[in-house]
Amino acid sequence: MSEERRRILVIHGPNLNLLGVREPGHYGQMTLPEIERELAAIAGSMGYEIVSFQSNHEGALVERIQAERERVRGVLINPAAYTHTSVAIRDALLAVGLPVVEVHLSNIHRREAFRRHSYVADIAVGQLTGLGPDSYFLGLVALINHIEGFRGLPRAS
Ligand code: DQA
Repeated sequence: MSEERRRILVIHGPNLNLLGVREPGHYGQMTLPEIERELAAIAGSMGYEIVSFQSNHEGALVERIQAERERVRGVLINPAAYTHTSVAIRDALLAVGLPVVEVHLSNIHRREAFRRHSYVADIAVGQLTGLGPDSYFLGLVALINHIEGFRGLPRAS
């Protein structure tokens, strides 16, 4: 596989653009650009790069997942509220056939009952939830490990 494809698509659903100011009790203080900087550093240490996309629109998320189909090796996704509602995002992930890791900052199993169901969980390699930004960071490592077929944390270079 070409170097060109050592990329991970990172998808952020609605309202995640407001991280840092949005309900910090649930979602913490880290902003999306801060999370993305860290993700890029982790990916880099494992020989990958990330391509990130945030949208508040379901169709835009579907279109981006489709568009990156041939350019990335896996998808790290926080579908946000669409986790609990979107058959369209589930179907897009199934359609592209890439390995998926689902992440959530808050623990969706400790909140309102409607957050416990995820349309992505059963088609994902795994779900990390409730670890704050570590859900993203550990999820990225797990996704790359899954793709590369090895286990362990990235080595410091
Ligand atoms: C979230 C959890 C969802 O239930 C919620 O709608 C979000 C964020 C999380 O990261 O904890 O917007 O995905």
